[in-house]
Amino acid sequence: MESVIPELRPSPERRPKRMAAHDVTLRGADVTLRPMGEDDWDVLLAWNNDPVVMALADHNPFQETSLADLQTIYRWLATHAYCFIMVVDGAPIGECWLQQMNLQRLVDRFPDLDLRRIDLMIGEKDLWGRGYGTEAIRLLVEFGFRDQRADGIFAPVMADNRRSQRAFQKNGFTRYSSHREPDGRVNTDLVVWRTEFEAAGAGQGA
Ligand SMILES: CC(C)(COP(=O)(O)OP(=O)(O)OC[C@H]1O[C@@H](n2cnc3c(N)ncnc32)[C@H](O)[C@@H]1OP(=O)(O)O)[C@@H](O)C(=O)NCCC(=O)NCCS
Repeated sequence: MESVIPELRPSPERRPKRMAAHDVTLRGADVTLRPMGEDDWDVLLAWNNDPVVMALADHNPFQETSLADLQTIYRWLATHAYCFIMVVDGAPIGECWLQQMNLQRLVDRFPDLDLRRIDLMIGEKDLWGRGYGTEAIRLLVEFGFRDQRADGIFAPVMADNRRSQRAFQKNGFTRYSSHREPDGRVNTDLVVWRTEFEAAGAGQGA
């Protein structure tokens, strides 16, 4: 099967010069998800270079990321994801996105389904544990199923990231599979299906 997986990094001639714009804003009781854009590099650079945040957000060993590298990654990501900044009380606290599935193991398993994935990170670590992550996931799931009509939404989460596991579980995610990373840590694919979302009565408006 031909791979539909977006590359991690495009060749230089295919790199977008700016982040693709979208106009989706998702509002919860405390958290608003507004479009990520070209004015967000300061916070994105700070969060992506905080080793405490990144130890949880990325299973790869921490490495400093330059602004140029970050721009390449996010601008490319935005060509196949709805990228958002999480805002609380008017201030940016983190980032998240709903992305076209790019994990080969899942694309191969479900070639006929529209699968997405959620990734998120609250970069302001003083604000962990206040329910904001759970609310952001809920907003993305509702958008993914009600508006985008995705069949399933996955979240790859390290098994030892208990806070993240719990925030996804509170939104109906269950474990689909687990696999061991090269460093020996266990990564889990959590999933929620649209059928489950609708059966729970969550499919009909807010
Ligand atoms: C993961 C993250 C998005 C979660 O958002 P959050 O706002 O901190 O989490 P919430 O407050 O919404 O929910 C956390 C839940 O986990 C629970 N929890 C926290 N620490 C826990 C632990 N060690 N073991 C089990 N549960 C734990 C909390 O009690 C809460 O559940 P409850 O409401 O039932 O009590 C956020 O902490 C974050 O960005 N962390 C750093 C980056 C990261 O891990 N990203 C995710 C990568 S997959």
